[in-house]
This record gives sequence, C-alpha cells and structure tokens, in this order.
Amino acid sequence: MSAETPRRTKIVATLGPASSSSETVLSLAEAGMDAARLNFSHGTHEDHAARTNLVREIRGEIGRPIAVIADLQGPKVRIGELSEPVTLERGEEVVVAPEDAARDGELPVSPTVICEVLQKGHDVLIDDGLVRLRVDSVSRRRARCTVVVGGLVSANKGVNVPGVPVPIPSLTRKDMDDLDFALDLGADFIALSFVRSAADVRDLRELIEAAGSKARVIAKIEKAEAVDSLEAILGETHAVMVARGDLGVEIGAALVPLVQKRIILASLDRAKPVITATQMLESMIVNTEPTRAEASDVANAILDGSSALMLAGETARGEHPVEAVAYMDRIARAVEPSLAYRHQLPEASEQPSVGQATSNAACDLAEALSAKALLVPTFTGGTASAVARLRPHRPIIGLSHHEHAVRQMAIEWGVTPMKIQEAVDVEDLWSRSLEAARETGLVDAGDLVVITAGTAVNLPGTTNVIKVDAA
Ligand code: PGA
Ligand code: MN
Repeated sequence: MSAETPRRTKIVATLGPASSSSETVLSLAEAGMDAARLNFSHGTHEDHAARTNLVREIRGEIGRPIAVIADLQGPKVRIGELSEPVTLERGEEVVVAPEDAARDGELPVSPTVICEVLQKGHDVLIDDGLVRLRVDSVSRRRARCTVVVGGLVSANKGVNVPGVPVPIPSLTRKDMDDLDFALDLGADFIALSFVRSAADVRDLRELIEAAGSKARVIAKIEKAEAVDSLEAILGETHAVMVARGDLGVEIGAALVPLVQKRIILASLDRAKPVITATQMLESMIVNTEPTRAEASDVANAILDGSSALMLAGETARGEHPVEAVAYMDRIARAVEPSLAYRHQLPEASEQPSVGQATSNAACDLAEALSAKALLVPTFTGGTASAVARLRPHRPIIGLSHHEHAVRQMAIEWGVTPMKIQEAVDVEDLWSRSLEAARETGLVDAGDLVVITAGTAVNLPGTTNVIKVDAA
C-alpha cells in the first residue's frame, strides 16, 4: 500500500526564543514544518547558528529536507534607543529626531537620513501602525509631529512612512554582515525585506553568486513600490513573500486581501514559489485554538494559490508553537481536496517556451491517465515549479542530485523532494527516478507514473521529454 498523498501547501515556521530547543524543533518538523525561517531583525548570530544546527540535526530523523530561510532586515526604519518606553497621548506634540542628535523627550529614529526626507503632512506610523503621528513642520532634521493615534512606544519598534522613498540602500551594512553569516551557515534561501525594485533583487543575487552560494532569493513584497514593480521583481527573484505585516501598514489593511491575490496569481504565472505570511494564526500565540477568522484566512490563502504559508510570532515567541504548525497542517488538509487543477488558465507568456509547454502537457497526461505521481528530475528545481504551477492532483516527486536544490524544493507546492545520485545517461536517469519514487512510499512497484525532464544537451535547462512508465 502506498502512503497517503502528502499535504500540498508547505509550512514555513519562524524559529525564535520559543523554538530554540532540539525537542521543540523536532516537534515542529514532526507537526509539518517544511522550512525554518531565521529572522535577522531579532537575535544574535549565535542564536541563528544554534537554530540552524538544530534544524540540521533533526533533518536525518525526520527523513525529509527542511529548508533554512535567512530573512534580512533590509532598509527598515526603527525607533532608536530609549531609556524607557514612552506613552504618547492623542493630540500631544512630539519631535522625531535623528538618533545621533535626539534630545531627552524626543523620539530618536534610525537610520538618521529618514529625517532628511520627512515633510509636513507625512504620516509616521510606529509599531505596525498602532501609533500614528502626522508631521506639522520640519526644521534642521527635526520633525515636529502631532500624535493622531496614541499608545506606547518602546525602543527598536518599526517605523513606516508610507509613500516616502527611504534614501538608504536595499542592503544596509547590517544586512551585508548578516548575509555573509547566513551564507556561511549554508542558508537555502535569503529573504530580503522592503524590496523596492527589481534592482534590489538583482544586487542581492549578484552578491550571493559572487560568494559561490546556490542560495535562492525570496523578495518580500511589503511596500507600495514593490507592488507597482511586481512584474519586474518577478523577473529577477526566485521566490516571493506576501509580507502582510508591513504591507498592511504601508498600503492599509483594507487593500491587503486583493493585493495578496494579485501577487499570488502573478507568481503562479511565472512558476515562482509564493509564501503568504503574517498573522495567519496570530491568536495562537496565546491560545491553543485559532479564531474562525484565522482558520478562514489560512484556507483562503491556500485557495488563492499560495505555495507555502508562514508562521512568525506563533512559532518564534508564542506559547504553542507546535500546536500552531499542527493546526495549519489540519486546515490545509481539510481545504486541499477542493483545489482546482489550473489546466484552463492562460499561459504564463503569449508564446510558451518548450519547457513550459512540456510541463503543461506532462500534467495533462498525468491527470488524464490518473497516474500515481509526476516524477520530475531537475537540476535546480525549476521544472518542479513549472509542474507545480498547474496544481496537478497527482503528487509531484522532485528529484535532484544537488542537495541545495532538494532542500529548496521543500517550499514548493505539492513537491516531495528526493535526492538521487547523478545519472550517467538518460536510461540511468529514468531508473534512478523510478527507484527514488518508490522510496518515497507514494508509488508502488508497477504503478503508472509520468516522468518529465530535460535531456537535451543542446537545450540546457529545458524540459523536453515526457515518459509514461511503470514504477
Ligand atoms: P517581517 O516581515 O516579519 O520581517 O516584518 C513579514 C511582514 O512584514 O509581514
Ligand atoms: Mn516586514
């Protein structure tokens, strides 16, 4: 008897103080974590190294690859050091000043150049927009503001200034340090916060390539500029995150649901994995059950076409990290049978490439024949994504001899990644693929399978063959 179809939508869990023991990380993996995210906006390099080691240690026990995502802070504006938190009252006046020049009673912000672009009328949003200021006047890098919505402000809280271009590079000095460190740790993905343009993604890719790393880039869409440049960014990035936390502050929560759907569909059209993130099971930070609205949000993100869903505070600092992953897994399994095969949707481009057309045909064939699985030998995982894009009902088994590609497929929808030995010729590739497929337990000997791969030496990276075979 072959194993049941695995969950198709992948789960990314952020590791933090609440998930830093080997027992918890093992339990997260057993509950269904497919990728672990390290949030470089918090914690030390030692913390991140220790968490990465925990993931490495349990990989063997769990028997499936777990990707590591290093998430860089990017050009984020923050409140600087404060001797103690301050409570701002509505209507009160407060001065926002560069951190290196802020006096007692003023709100220090960093990086300090933000004070050079603030103007009368700008909104300054603090702590995910919970506290709101309006700039009344600016003189000598000091912005006099009125408190529009009051509340508590403490050190290091995030600051958003929607619609104001922040004059800092996409990779700060801290990001460069963190990037070096993350690449040394062997991270499989580097996520970049506050991407503004395709060039931001290209710069990061170049640095990663120059370091000789195969890590892939996840562009976090959380600024209006990124939504506007989505197509260009998709042309450069390997994967995308709908980073709803900051996105909601920047464009307003009311616009997030439709923008989420747009980002997901655009990513699907380009066969790029897309992660929907933030507040998915927020109440489980304290409760053991999600709210009905959260369960619906998770379900709808799956129906929208997300490749993966992300937990942040729920697993990083919540009281029930394992329960949160388990609940996400439960909701996904309840929703996935109703997902539609995307066969009839328009092509990614007007003129599909040989690779795209072949992947589409392989999916159609697998559906028509009710094949037991789609087998996709792939160097980079790209063909697995091209197949996953159509959301076939059959399990996709992604096979690569590159360890990093195997782990990178862990975030792709519907793909069960497997490592194979490098094949010597095409016949060898087929037999290794069939053998590995049987090892997954998803297919039994003799089951009908559809294999699709690139075999042409003169068309590198191009999927050009479909084979129907018995496992
Ligand atoms: P963050 O990104 O958690 O790093 O801020 C996610 C988001 O903004 O939604
Ligand atoms: Mn963010």
